[in-house]
Amino acid sequence: METRHNFGSKIGVVLASAGSAVGLGNVWRFPTAVGDNGGAAFIFIYLICIAVIGIPVMMSEFLIGRHTHANTISAFSKLAPGKWWRIEGVAGVFVAFLILSYYIIISGWMLYYFIESLRGNLHGGYLDYYKSFFESFSGHMWLPILTGAVFMGMTHFIVVRGVQSGIEKASKLMMPLLLFIIGILVVCSFSMSGTSEGLRFLFKPDFSKITTGVVLSAIGQAFFSLSLAMGCLCTYASYFRSDTNLAKTAVGVTVIDTIVAILCSIIVFPALFSMGGNEDTARVGPGLVFEVLPGLFDMGFSHVPLLGYIFSAFFYLLLILAALTSAISLHESVTAYVLEAFSISRRKAATLVSVACMSLGMVCSLSQGVWSHLKIFDMSILDFFDFTSAKVILPIGGIIICLFTGWYLDRKLVESELTNGGKLHIRFFRFYYFIIRYVAPLAIAAVFVWGFVEEFSKK
Ligand code: TRP
Repeated sequence: METRHNFGSKIGVVLASAGSAVGLGNVWRFPTAVGDNGGAAFIFIYLICIAVIGIPVMMSEFLIGRHTHANTISAFSKLAPGKWWRIEGVAGVFVAFLILSYYIIISGWMLYYFIESLRGNLHGGYLDYYKSFFESFSGHMWLPILTGAVFMGMTHFIVVRGVQSGIEKASKLMMPLLLFIIGILVVCSFSMSGTSEGLRFLFKPDFSKITTGVVLSAIGQAFFSLSLAMGCLCTYASYFRSDTNLAKTAVGVTVIDTIVAILCSIIVFPALFSMGGNEDTARVGPGLVFEVLPGLFDMGFSHVPLLGYIFSAFFYLLLILAALTSAISLHESVTAYVLEAFSISRRKAATLVSVACMSLGMVCSLSQGVWSHLKIFDMSILDFFDFTSAKVILPIGGIIICLFTGWYLDRKLVESELTNGGKLHIRFFRFYYFIIRYVAPLAIAAVFVWGFVEEFSKK
C-alpha cells in the first residue's frame, strides 16, 4: 500500500477544499434555485443556513477526517469500532460514486458547450433554437458519452497523480483562474442594460416570499454546495496537517463558496433582465444555463458581438474548471477507500473507480435519450440518481454526522481536535457544540421530512 501524503501548504488546504465546494452547485444550481425561489429572500435564508448549519457541519467532518487520517469508511470504524456508525462512511462512499457518475455527464455537456461556443455555433439563435440544440445534444446516443468520458479522463489524470502533485497542484492552478474569470464576467455583466433590474431582484428581499419550501430549498442547496454529508471533506481533511486550523479553514471555504455563488447570480440575472426576462422567466429551472444563457450572451451584447462571444466561452470554461475540482474530490473519496481497503496502487484504484463510474455514467446519459422511457418512480435514471443522493442520503448523512460528533464522540476529543490539542483558542466552542447537538440535526430532520411530504404531495 502507498504511504499517505498530506497537503503541502495551508493555502493548498483551503484551495483544495474550496475547489471541492465550488462546483456546478454554485455556477449552475444556485442561480437556478435563486430564480425558482424568488430572488433576494432566498439568498437571505441561504446565508443564515450557511452560517448556522453549514459551517458547524463542515467543522465536524473536518475533525473526523483529520483525527483518523483515514478514508471515510475507516474513519468511522476507527472512532466507533464494531458499531453501526460505519454505515455513514459506507453511504458516503456509495453516494460519492453515484453523484460522480452523473456529475461527469453534466460536466461533459459543459465541455461540449464550451467547444461549440468557440466554434461559433452558440451564437445568433433564438430561445427555441437553443432549446432544441440542447435536447438533440443531450439525447444524442454517443456524443454526450464521449464528452463525459473526456471529462472523466481529465479527472482521472489528476487523481492518479496523488494528493500533492495532483489535487493540490490542480487546485492551486485552477481556483485562482476561476476567480479571475468570475471577475471578468462580473465586470461584463455590469455593462448590460438590465443590470439595475437584475441587482434589485437579487438584493432587495421581499419577505412575503419566504415559505417553508424556500427555507427547505435553501438548506438543501447549502449541503450540496458545500460538499457536505458524504465524507468528501472528511477525506480531504485526512490529508490536513496537525497544525491546520479547522474552524478557520471551514469559515474560509464557506466564505469563498458563498461569494462565488452570489457572484454567479450577479453574472446570470442582469443578463436575463437585459434580455427582457422577468421573474417568471427566471424560473426556467435546470435549463437556465443550457437553453437561455447562450442566447443571453449573444443578444445582451448585440452592440459588441465579440464581447458576447468571449463572455459565453469564458462562462463555459468557468463551469468546466469549477466542475473539475469538485469531480476530483468525489473521485478521491472513493479512490482513497478502494486504495486503502484493498491495498492496491493508486493507479489501479483510480482506474477501477473511473471505469465503474463511467459505465454508470453511460446509463445516465442514455436515460436522457434512447432510454428515456425507462422510469423509476416517474423519474429518468439520471434524475433518480440525483434525487436519491441529494434529497435522501445527503440529509440523513448530515443528521448522522451531527449526532456522531455531538452525542457519540467524547466532548474532549472534539474540543482537542478543534483546538489542535489545546494550542488554539476557539471562542465559539460552546456555541458550536450546542448547534451540532440540537439545532443542526433538528433543522435537517425538518428539511428531510418536509422535503418528502412536498415532493409526494406534488404528484
Ligand atoms: N459541492 C459541489 C458543487 O457545488 C458538488 C460536490 C462535490 C458535492 N462533492 C460533494 C456535493 C459531496 C455533495 C457531497 O457542485
